[in-house]
Amino acid sequence: MRIGILGTGIVGQTLGTHWLGLGHEVGLGSRTSGNPEGQRWATGASGPATCGSFQDVAADAELIVNATPGQVSLIALEQARAHLGGKVILDVANALDFSNGFPPALAVGTNDSLAEQIQRAFPDAYVVKSLNTMPVEIMVAPQAVGDGEHDVFVSGDDAAAKQVVVDLLLTTGWHNDRITDLGPLSTARAAELLLPLWLSVMQHSGSRLVTFSVVKA
Ligand SMILES: NC(=O)c1ccc[n+]([C@@H]2O[C@H](COP(=O)([O-])OP(=O)(O)OC[C@H]3O[C@@H](n4cnc5c(N)ncnc54)[C@H](OP(=O)(O)O)[C@@H]3O)[C@@H](O)[C@H]2O)c1
Repeated sequence: MRIGILGTGIVGQTLGTHWLGLGHEVGLGSRTSGNPEGQRWATGASGPATCGSFQDVAADAELIVNATPGQVSLIALEQARAHLGGKVILDVANALDFSNGFPPALAVGTNDSLAEQIQRAFPDAYVVKSLNTMPVEIMVAPQAVGDGEHDVFVSGDDAAAKQVVVDLLLTTGWHNDRITDLGPLSTARAAELLLPLWLSVMQHSGSRLVTFSVVKA
């Protein structure tokens, strides 16, 4: 699959490297086509890796991944607008407001979600929220971190789009019984609301490698 990742940060690079290793073609996108971080990643990667502007990587992609900071995600996606119609957007971002310190507030509030904002802004795309509730190390290697008892949530309004994401999660290393389909995209509110709790637990435990494990009695 041709995957266009918007975002050259640690999340974009880590997901990109992992998916290249699985045989996908990956483009890493930036505000400009000459971003040094993206160029370094593409040059050092093994496999069909490219970098370019948000628009460039979206144009070539079958699946778009939003790996930009939540407060600027709509701006980043806007640059790629011409190439989003009919495509799945996997939204892994969180919109966090650190202006009053730690733990951050949710920039979007509690009656909405970043994922829904993206869907409203790009109604011809199919937005699926997933992977935002864990550190990037666990996104790509759930079985290799700790006891492997991590859960991933999936929210989206389109069943086929969710299946595209679930299939990618399965090949990425997630087991079916650890993938919870929460339902429509409005359930992304719950996944995004977990962030302040997640970050507080990370801070108090002193470990980055904190995630959620659902216990079904
Ligand atoms: N770190 C984790 O373990 C983790 C876990 C779960 C979810 N997340 C979420 O994943 C997302 C990506 O995190 P990250 O740490 O990899 O990313 P990041 O380093 O915070 O973001 C880098 C990207 O954001 C773009 N960007 C910055 N300011 C922008 C603006 N004003 N307009 C448009 N684009 C802008 C940059 O563009 P340029 O390339 O042009 O500089 C770059 O591509 C975030 O939403 C984060 O909350 C992170």
